[in-house]
Amino acid sequence: MGLSKSWLWLCFLLGVWTPQGNGKVYPRDIYRRTPKFRRAWTGVEANTGKNFGGWLLRILNSNGNFACGGAYYAPLLVITSANCIYPYRNSLEGATVEGTAVSKCDSENIAEIDTIQFPERFIYRKLYMDVAVVRLKEPIKGRLTEFIRLCTIKLQPTMRTVVFGWGFDSLEVQKPSPDPRNSSVTIISLKECRQKFGKKLALSSTSVCVRQPKNPRNCLYDGGSPMIYKRELCGVVSFGSQCQNTSYPGMFTNIIRVARFIKETEESIEAGYIFRSPRAKNKSPARMLRAPKVKKKVPVKIRTATTIAVIDTTKPTNVVKTTTIDPLESMVC
Ligand SMILES: *[C@@H]1O[C@H](CO)[C@@H](O)[C@H](O)[C@H]1NC(C)=O
Ligand SMILES: *[C@@H]1O[C@H](CO)[C@@H](O)[C@H](O)[C@H]1NC(C)=O
Repeated sequence: MGLSKSWLWLCFLLGVWTPQGNGKVYPRDIYRRTPKFRRAWTGVEANTGKNFGGWLLRILNSNGNFACGGAYYAPLLVITSANCIYPYRNSLEGATVEGTAVSKCDSENIAEIDTIQFPERFIYRKLYMDVAVVRLKEPIKGRLTEFIRLCTIKLQPTMRTVVFGWGFDSLEVQKPSPDPRNSSVTIISLKECRQKFGKKLALSSTSVCVRQPKNPRNCLYDGGSPMIYKRELCGVVSFGSQCQNTSYPGMFTNIIRVARFIKETEESIEAGYIFRSPRAKNKSPARMLRAPKVKKKVPVKIRTATTIAVIDTTKPTNVVKTTTIDPLESMVC
């Protein structure tokens, strides 16, 4: 009983109570029933190591090449752009989603795609409801992996948001980088957006436009890649403009306008109304890769860490001291 109590304390310390600390290393991988709040991203201040948050993902096609950016929303659900992922919908065998935050304790942080859910009213190459929910066969592992919350704030002109990307959709501008990059953009009104495009583009009620950075090298516009405001997912790169001419606005799907679709899809999947693909019944190779050795090691090492954490809780001032140690360096696998 003593052990399970201290285990709870450890989870509490690592998972909930230290957003102001140097970083967040979770005590275990995400499993199918991990509640979203327990792994919710608490902002850049809480990141550990060189990553933008454990929720930033890349979607790879069956050949292992970059397909789209994505955001980790729930253990088996990833949010991306429908226009981006649509061409891959019939060739999902071997298509995967990969985390971008990796620690030395992770043996893998990749999961296979099961199915993709598109909004009923989405039309390929149109902007309306340009969002898709990718369902995974199993959660993405990794001690840094976490979820991002959906937007709760209405995006308004002049707001500054942060975008992420690799540069795969703007090869004319510069070579894509192996690691994701970030950049900031400014929201503009739909009126200004329409003026910039003229008649070339029919904007939709689920879109939001941004002013791109003047320098095309700072422009990030990979399909499905996330746009965040503070700690929330507020947009995904939609379809239309690219980075060659940054005088054209960037088009994003406004997450707050499509949140209902995301939540309804999530509920339908949980309730079993949306079936898994028949392929998912076979044991995936990724799952078989899991080494039992690593699994055995974890509780042993954690027990030592628990003792430290328990001692710390008696004196809150000591806790501050322990968080000054780089959690990524000091983590035991
Ligand atoms: C990009 O990320 C780095 C590191 O997290 C941060 O210091 C910087 O402010 C970010 N830039 C923008 C534009 O958000
Ligand atoms: C970008 O597009 C605008 C508007 O059509 C045009 O005036 C400008 O010359 C273009 N710039 C480049 C570098 O192509």
